[in-house]
Amino acid sequence: MAVLRKGGVVAFPTETVYGLGADAENERAVRRVFEIKGRPIGHPVIVHLSGESQIELWARNVPGTAYRLTEKFWPGPLTIVLRRSERASDVVTGSQDTVALRAPSHPLAHELLHAFGGGIIAPSANRFGSVSATRAEHVVADLGASVDLIVEGGDATIGVESTIVDLTQGEPAILRPGAVTREAISAALGVPVREGGSDVRVPGSLPSHYAPRARVELAENDVVAAGLANALRAQGSHVSVIGSDDVNALARDLYERLRAADREGVDAIVVVLPANEGLGVALRDRLRRAASPKR
Ligand code: TXA
Ligand code: MG
Repeated sequence: MAVLRKGGVVAFPTETVYGLGADAENERAVRRVFEIKGRPIGHPVIVHLSGESQIELWARNVPGTAYRLTEKFWPGPLTIVLRRSERASDVVTGSQDTVALRAPSHPLAHELLHAFGGGIIAPSANRFGSVSATRAEHVVADLGASVDLIVEGGDATIGVESTIVDLTQGEPAILRPGAVTREAISAALGVPVREGGSDVRVPGSLPSHYAPRARVELAENDVVAAGLANALRAQGSHVSVIGSDDVNALARDLYERLRAADREGVDAIVVVLPANEGLGVALRDRLRRAASPKR
């Protein structure tokens, strides 16, 4: 925490993925996070808060829908996009008129935010373009010595990045699916919620984000996956197959399994897609990106 006050960079666990944190009001510290990740300036980051009492410090014209969602889903894996206040600088927001806010539920994240008092920007603690970190050892492997402090907090329990919902347009819109589903948000608000389609920039939604080094092939079921794997092996490829009937377990383990396949040096990873419902929507979104051709 003293590290954060001095403008340092701290990797810390959240329930979704590990974050690479810095004082959201210290522009130099925020820029260092971008440098360490190798992330282009101009990509907005999420400001993490200890709770909803801090929302109006960072946002203006906050709609009632924001509080209906935070009451139900905070602390937790939900990020809300609102009109920014002056406190939210251009480097944090990517010079947009909006700011993304989230209060994580992981006890160590909450403790850190509570003790620090201010907002902490925290993109996922991985190198830009690669798979997010769900264990402290992933942070060490990706960013190791360039981080001032790594808080060890075990494996991320959810394993996939937070849901992002834009509340600045007429109709709420999901910018990135996550553990809080569109249906759950719609039920909490009593209004329809759009899937994407907003004009807000979400660089996380660039194709080829979240990608391991190995080529990723997607299959709708076990039979198709086995066929794909056999065909690739017949060509001499070293193949690993990832799948699970338990969507929560798949989410929790997915990034580690993708990273493990890369560590083993496989040529191709065949993934059995979960059903397109609940957490499966988010997993299919990330897997589609992982499978899309690299730039
Ligand atoms: O679960 C998470 O959200 C993790 C943990 C560490 O909290 N953080 C995370 O941060 O995934 P990052 O930087 O890897 O992804 C943040 C996403 C990006 O896709 C970014 O474009 C989007 O949030 N974002 C940030 N500010 C935004 C804004 N004002 N409007 C729209 N999208 C925004
Ligand atoms: Mg990320």
